[in-house]
Amino acid sequence: MDQQLARLLDNLYEEGRAHDGPLADRLLRLRNMTPDAARLIALLIRVRRATSVLEIGTSNGYSAIWFADAVRDTGGMLTTVEIDEDRVAVALRNLARAGVEEHVDVVHGDGADVLAKLPGSSVDLVVLDAERPAYVEYWTQLRRVLKPYGVVAVDNAVSHRDQVVAFRDLLTEDPAFDVQLHELGDGVLTGVRVR
Ligand SMILES: C[S@@+](CC[C@H](N)C(=O)[O-])C[C@H]1O[C@@H](n2cnc3c(N)ncnc32)[C@H](O)[C@@H]1O
Repeated sequence: MDQQLARLLDNLYEEGRAHDGPLADRLLRLRNMTPDAARLIALLIRVRRATSVLEIGTSNGYSAIWFADAVRDTGGMLTTVEIDEDRVAVALRNLARAGVEEHVDVVHGDGADVLAKLPGSSVDLVVLDAERPAYVEYWTQLRRVLKPYGVVAVDNAVSHRDQVVAFRDLLTEDPAFDVQLHELGDGVLTGVRVR
């Protein structure tokens, strides 16, 4: 990653933390994933040479910038879905500031609806970073859209273990998936579709 983009991401992350600090209402916080979590997922995008990446939960576009930088290298495209219209506007501005906007499609909507409309076996990597209790309801469609050797990556698998456990159980019980928990940042759960 070039130094200018790295500096922009550092600044955005610090601004996000300063914004979130005094806010008691979780839903008003930007809740950016940690740089370590974003870096791991960007690495997976590059190693997988993922060209079709879907993120559910854009917020202000912090993690989307990491993933867009990775799909710029793979020649792919990131679709990131955000339910809050104001946040879509902020994310678009931040992605433009980062110079990665042409590698990202920011969709204003519900992640569940976007998943349901995607063709089968069309996505290399899905990032879940929205309302954690909903992930279980995503599973049938998510499983359908993942390509062979596709990856699902879930943030907050350690910090909010209790809210992710039901989804983790679904993945673990599915013989088609190899599941790992990465104890960095707030914890990143990955499932790779190996069969
Ligand atoms: C944890 S924040 C995402 C942080 C972002 N991935 C980052 O690291 O910069 C969660 C976001 O998901 C959005 N969200 C919640 N439910 C959603 C849904 N069903 N579909 C799309 N976005 C949703 C929220 O509005 C919020 O902005």
